[in-house]
Amino acid sequence: MRRLAAPLALLLASTACTTMEAAPPTASAPQPERMISPILTSPEAVDASTYAEPQVARVTHVALDFDLDFAARRASGTATLDVLAASGANEIVLDSNGLEIARITDSAGRELAYEIGNMVEEGGKGAPLTIQLDGATTLRIEYRAPADASALQWLSPEQTAGKVHPFLFSQGQAILNRTWIPTQDSPGIRQTWEARITAPKPLDVVMSGVRQGEPEDLGNGRRAFTFVMDKPVPPYLIALAAGDIDFRAIGPRTGVWAEPSVIARAHAEVADTEEMVVAAEKLYGEYRWGRYDMIVLPPAFPYGGMENPVMTFLTPTFIAGNRSNNGLVAHELAHSWSGNLVTNAVWGDSWLNEGVTTYFENRIVEAVYGKKRAEQEAALMYANILDTLAEVGGDAPGTALSTDGGYELGSAIAYDKGAFFLRTVERIVGRTRFDAWLRQWFDNHAFQPATSEMFHKDMMVNLVQGEAEAEALMLREWIFEPGLPANVAKPDPTAFAEVDRAVTAYTSAGTIPAAYSGWTAAEQMRFLDNLPKELTADQLAALDATLGLSGTGNNEIRFLWLEMALENRYDPAVPQVDAFLSEVGRAKFVRPLFQVLWNEGEWGRPIATRIYAKTRDSYHAVTRAGVDRVMDGE
Ligand code: BES
Ligand code: ZN
Repeated sequence: MRRLAAPLALLLASTACTTMEAAPPTASAPQPERMISPILTSPEAVDASTYAEPQVARVTHVALDFDLDFAARRASGTATLDVLAASGANEIVLDSNGLEIARITDSAGRELAYEIGNMVEEGGKGAPLTIQLDGATTLRIEYRAPADASALQWLSPEQTAGKVHPFLFSQGQAILNRTWIPTQDSPGIRQTWEARITAPKPLDVVMSGVRQGEPEDLGNGRRAFTFVMDKPVPPYLIALAAGDIDFRAIGPRTGVWAEPSVIARAHAEVADTEEMVVAAEKLYGEYRWGRYDMIVLPPAFPYGGMENPVMTFLTPTFIAGNRSNNGLVAHELAHSWSGNLVTNAVWGDSWLNEGVTTYFENRIVEAVYGKKRAEQEAALMYANILDTLAEVGGDAPGTALSTDGGYELGSAIAYDKGAFFLRTVERIVGRTRFDAWLRQWFDNHAFQPATSEMFHKDMMVNLVQGEAEAEALMLREWIFEPGLPANVAKPDPTAFAEVDRAVTAYTSAGTIPAAYSGWTAAEQMRFLDNLPKELTADQLAALDATLGLSGTGNNEIRFLWLEMALENRYDPAVPQVDAFLSEVGRAKFVRPLFQVLWNEGEWGRPIATRIYAKTRDSYHAVTRAGVDRVMDGE
């Protein structure tokens, strides 16, 4: 792999978006040289979610050393930071959200003055932590994460499959890691890292870095685990999980961790992962992270998946017994290029991570499961875009790919419109040229941040040929304008021909399709998605009995069924909703179900209130915040 090194000035500030050329190691470097990535300073690359001023002083390496205390639900220890400062810089600004700092010293043990500034309560930005450098290039911060650190979810044994041991996982994206790691928490400021974590036996610890050797038995009922990530990553990708977990290999560089009672089902579900990595490499170049492992977490995990390097985190709710939801695995794997290798410099450009990944995911699905499945999944995405645009208006400003905020419109814009943008470009220039272009984009921006403007410029310089093609592509309209451009490469209209006929037959004559049980999961979802909005209790009972909806093993389908049942105030589904919401914390399922209950006024609100009273404490901070907003009527 190419090492990145560059003169200090360039590392502190690079407006150029070229790859750094290798430079001779500096004479003063004491430790083995670490890879350092440049930062961007162009106006659109300035991250409003961080307090850091990386052009003045930036963190290049983080070394964590701490203990997990499951009884107190606390992580405490030290973070030692390497700092690269411009000449004359006296201080460095880090991000902190509630960190309890005991003291900060330099490498000689000298105390350094620091100050925690005003806290921004809205949105989790937290407060600036300003440290006087006084010539120091290494800072040792002794601290404790707050008891309510929103990046950390401490699970009781009852929230695990095994019911005996507690569990802990972290979730960094987007700006949660500042609640447990004192660093510059911005996607545009990459850092290498290492960690030593101690945990009580028999728990195992995994991280988004490579585990070093065997755990060390400390003789006091605890073990120490060490990890290294020698490639610079944005700090939202530092992640940790600890619990009673086992590992099972899939291929030479792939494997899965899960609780002992889940590992067999988890392993069977993700058995295609090695093949997916091979397919991904064939598309867009070498997998650069060494191992690709996954951990299947307890159902409280608030997302479907999270692309933590070398250790994707997954919800157990994707396990269907037939691999029908493992577009999810393809998605998190694809982030090893789009997101983890080339990263959006600011969260308003999330589509650079999620849209490019959703396109790439579909290409992996096509390579591993064939064109039919890929086209059906693309057609579901397209329907999602159209539904969202119909809901919010085709020219609503939030429907541009490049936004100045986060992405509030679910997955329709950053994910699906982003994917359809690349699909459209691919159709216009042809797959061969498009794939070569995307591969060079990853290669030339590896381990670096990027912006929408850079992406656009790179396409203009390295892909587009001639004015007619430039006009046909409508690149700026796709990236910077709301709505869906006219040249969109629509999905194959015949992708769901049979299902769409069955929907018509049901709508006009009430015919429940006998073929349903033989359909693909995407076909079943398409059918349920397109049923009439209003259904009577008798119709719901008949659909449930004939299609086996209550008994489905696929949680995506269960979710659609429960949603449609609640929208029609179908009492027999309430116990199932109660059970589902009591076990599952995945925000994508939980928040909409509470929303439907809330919408159903005098029927639904008492049910929502009763269920939430017992489930709220078991949800992750992200899920809880989402449901709180629903229950506040926002
Ligand atoms: N990176 C996201 C998860 C995420 C997004 C965390 C925004 C925090 C803020 C992850 O790759 C993702 O997109 N997960 C999806 C699955 C995917 C198949 C659409 C999810 O969790 O549903
Ligand atoms: Zn993603």
